[in-house]
Amino acid sequence: MGINRIGLLTSGGDAPGMNAVIRAVVRTAYANNLEILGIRRGYNGLINGDVMELGHETVNGLTGRGGTILHTARCPEFTTKDGLLKAAKTCKYLGIDSLICVGGDGTFRGALDLSKHDIPSVGVPATIDNDIACTNYAIGFDTACNTAIGAIDRLRDTMQSHERCSLVEVMGRNAGHLAVYVGIAVGANCILVPERTFDFERDIADKVRRSRIHGRKHFIIIVAEGVGNTGEIADQVKEETGLDARVTILGHIQRGGQPNARDRVTASRMGRHAVELLMEGRQNRVVGIKDGNLQDFDIDEALGMKKGLQETMYETARILSMG
Ligand code: F6P
Repeated sequence: MGINRIGLLTSGGDAPGMNAVIRAVVRTAYANNLEILGIRRGYNGLINGDVMELGHETVNGLTGRGGTILHTARCPEFTTKDGLLKAAKTCKYLGIDSLICVGGDGTFRGALDLSKHDIPSVGVPATIDNDIACTNYAIGFDTACNTAIGAIDRLRDTMQSHERCSLVEVMGRNAGHLAVYVGIAVGANCILVPERTFDFERDIADKVRRSRIHGRKHFIIIVAEGVGNTGEIADQVKEETGLDARVTILGHIQRGGQPNARDRVTASRMGRHAVELLMEGRQNRVVGIKDGNLQDFDIDEALGMKKGLQETMYETARILSMG
């Protein structure tokens, strides 16, 4: 059966490049005489029938805009049986024959649930956490890294002047990819991630002592949000090393701003691919990228995959932080 009207939603934490996906989906649909209905606030919009027409002219200039014009939300109601049924009914009522769902694993789980009610979909990975197993890269990660790096470069100037220790908390509740990339890029002395247990004496105190022997007076410690207690770690740094330790939480600033080239281009390619998959009748897929090539996986299979911290990256960070 052919498709005519595709519903498009962005869900979960926003990521720079989501708007570029929206543009790519709308433009690809336009080129193929398909209709796109934008669904506002993720799965909430499906439950409440909160939708907007997305004509090709509505997406002009969107490639470079941060955030998502469709808005996004986390939607607890959608995880209930009632919520799911309401969402499926809205799709039928609005004549939506398939969905493109942009977000992370939670978003794809929602898409999988809907597929069991005969609403097929394609997922596009977008999250600054870059923690989606079926793809090497998720839209938004590179821009978020650069935002954090820019902030830390500024922070370094003042911390260096005062000879302090900066503990910088970056996002990543369950994943340390952002922390590791940013840590390597700013030359952090220590990177703490949720995937590894840390030992204060080994990972911080000992390093500080050794570096001080070599004359270092300023230290940067990157802490992924999921490690928790950044304030307590700072107190411990003060107590055990005598350094003046300060905490900076970068927070949601990492999710905002204009997407960079990598995110604009990846979003554009993935958005086009998502529409074409549906046109080819390839349903319930998640788009991924490996070695620069687009791929796609069955949603169920994609959700079953695991993505750990990249060991070589973590090791590179560890080796380079010595001294
Ligand atoms: O989008 C992923 C993420 O930024 C995580 O790194 C973070 O833990 C979470 O979202 C925060 O979500 P919220 O904005 O809903 O508080």
